[in-house]
Amino acid sequence: MNVVTEQTKLTHDPQTLFNHYLGANVVYAFHQIGLFDIVSNPKVSITEIARKTGSEIGRLQALLQAGEILGYVNRYQDDFIQLSLLGEEMRKQIGYFIWSVGAYGDMLRRLGDLHTGEQGTSGLRDEGKVALGSDLMNSDLLENLLREILDSIPFQSICDFGCGNGRKLINMLKRYPERRGIGIDISSDAIVLAQQNIKQHGLSERAALLHANILDINASHKDMELLNEVEVVTSFMMLHDLFNIPEIRETLFDRLRNVFPKVKYFLISDTLQTPISYMKEKLPIFNVGFELVHAFMDVNIPTKEEYDLAFQKAGLTIEQCIPFGPTSTYLYVLKT
Ligand SMILES: C[S@@+](CC[C@H](N)C(=O)[O-])C[C@H]1O[C@@H](n2cnc3c(N)ncnc32)[C@H](O)[C@@H]1O
Repeated sequence: MNVVTEQTKLTHDPQTLFNHYLGANVVYAFHQIGLFDIVSNPKVSITEIARKTGSEIGRLQALLQAGEILGYVNRYQDDFIQLSLLGEEMRKQIGYFIWSVGAYGDMLRRLGDLHTGEQGTSGLRDEGKVALGSDLMNSDLLENLLREILDSIPFQSICDFGCGNGRKLINMLKRYPERRGIGIDISSDAIVLAQQNIKQHGLSERAALLHANILDINASHKDMELLNEVEVVTSFMMLHDLFNIPEIRETLFDRLRNVFPKVKYFLISDTLQTPISYMKEKLPIFNVGFELVHAFMDVNIPTKEEYDLAFQKAGLTIEQCIPFGPTSTYLYVLKT
């Protein structure tokens, strides 16, 4: 019997897999050198690309040639390059490649070294790239939803915990000019990025950043005066990390209410566990990799049923649960 099923043969024969692996790395390199911004429209000469990217010409030629063969760029009159339709699609979905190649590439390459559990995974993911990749994944979809929801909620102060590079907080503050915002993140890389972004957008007066583990903040925290004012608390793509700590799971929202005593709404987005049968059939972008790396970091991705139950047990009303973006990804609107 042939051990390769028809389904896997279609999507995963070794030749395709090899070239897709290469393609993901080429797409990520395009992003790293800023090529997507340079070669969109109109056509640009290779010499001009080399000048703008600071690339050594021979290596740039090799990278562009691989991109051309794989279909991401078109070449005209030997020396002119333009992004193809497929390349444009890669640019739109770049968050997934920043996440897989940039943030988790080292860990994914070392799965075979890590399988015994003797070696930890710390240092094998790039926190800054996790923040950037997560930020760029379907950010337009999420931000449209957020606008619709926040437009109808009166609030003066908002806090985003696990704020990553701060972009979502920044966009919310730009839309609501008189309001104040706080970003909290445990990662110093993320806080540095958020600081730069907030300064760049001229929001330093209205935005504060706390470099902290949200679980370590309590009523005696030095910034409690600021936290006391928060009426809307957001958290995007990180609640699974907290939910996974068994000893705080039951009391997580009591803790958060202590940190934010005036909170009226929690807006939580996250990617949750996807049934294996669905993943085998549809092979969606993201979910298989998301669950795999989290399993290696000993983080069990919760199911939607577990989230629904936890929110209800915490006395929160699920006003809305809106699917968006990758499979099993939702935005919850929770009223306290
Ligand atoms: C997947 S990233 C998402 C970043 C951002 N929310 C976004 O959607 O673009 C998760 C973020 O949560 C942060 N984080 C994880 N655990 C945290 C904790 N206990 N306290 C504060 N931040 C935490 C990480 O450092 C990381 O920046």
